[in-house]
Amino acid sequence: MAAEHRLLALKAFDGTKAGVKGLVDAGVTAVPSIFHHQPDHRHRHFTVPVIDLSSMSSRRPALVAQVKAAAETVGFFQVVNHGVPEEAMSAMLAAVKSFNDQPVEAKAPYYTRDRGRRVRYQSNVDLFTSPAAQWRDTLFMEMPAEPQELPAACRGVAPEYAGLVQQRLGRTLLELFSEALGLRRGYMEEEQGCLEGVSVAGHYYPACPEPHLTLGTISHSDTTFFTVLLQDAIGGLQVLVEDDEDRKQSAWADVPPAAGALVVNVGDFLQLMSNDRFKSVEHRVVANTVGPRVSVACFFRTPGAASSTRVLAPIVPDGDGARYRSTTMEELIRQHYRVKGLHGTSPLDHFRL
Ligand code: OGA
Ligand code: NI
Repeated sequence: MAAEHRLLALKAFDGTKAGVKGLVDAGVTAVPSIFHHQPDHRHRHFTVPVIDLSSMSSRRPALVAQVKAAAETVGFFQVVNHGVPEEAMSAMLAAVKSFNDQPVEAKAPYYTRDRGRRVRYQSNVDLFTSPAAQWRDTLFMEMPAEPQELPAACRGVAPEYAGLVQQRLGRTLLELFSEALGLRRGYMEEEQGCLEGVSVAGHYYPACPEPHLTLGTISHSDTTFFTVLLQDAIGGLQVLVEDDEDRKQSAWADVPPAAGALVVNVGDFLQLMSNDRFKSVEHRVVANTVGPRVSVACFFRTPGAASSTRVLAPIVPDGDGARYRSTTMEELIRQHYRVKGLHGTSPLDHFRL
């Protein structure tokens, strides 16, 4: 498709403010070409570790070892008995679904690409820069948000859920990450401020008539310290399991929904700060004829990260060399959008020494 036709199609789609759900509600039976991706069906079975966080105090060294092993390899793990009540999880998923299920008129006031707004509903944050659009709509909420900024469907639920994830699970994870890096338990929280901010992205993946032609979320790594993801029972999240010997042998492995579990993954900030000991791994979401699928990501990063001059620097044990130059959150996030969608490139490459 010629570039100007594509741009017109993107603008027309964006102008509806109705997202992908709007297309599905209008009865599309074919995926429009702006959503077409190069297929990548490399698939492999791999079990992302499940870590049980109950009885923390008696099993601490074993838990640190499990977190360390996962963070150093696949970069993903699931947690159970994590302290976030199941009612809060199901209420959060239901709130995202009910926001999206409203008529366009109710959602349109929140539809914006203005990054200055803390609450943004949009289809495809990178609609105009990514090579192909994704079969997904997102309600992004940067916390803390004023109650009146939040749509009614999420007003009570989202801040409560984000607070529980931050205080009950986020703090624990940061302690375990700190210890896994050989640092004092409170280091990442107290010295590095990794618990200071959380943003919530409520994703809505409508059923797709031709799932093999598109993707729900394109391959990416997260520009966060770490991410905690809640997914419903439908599935579709996949992580790239790398083959160290031969990158061409890398393949996508499913991260299957597990009742009551939350998915945790290392983000780019932590890979840089850990001087490559922890891995921020590419992941994606495939589209599905079944839907909608709902997921909720809690992104741990400083509020206003996209314009933050906060410095990220490798924490290097004595005797080791730094693998990265220091940078700022803003610079790393800008680089993320520059390379997003280019296969095999990480935004971190740009800062590598
Ligand atoms: C993300 C993400 C996965 C999902 O929001 O960064 O990877 O399952 N989401 O929605
Ligand atoms: Ni992600």
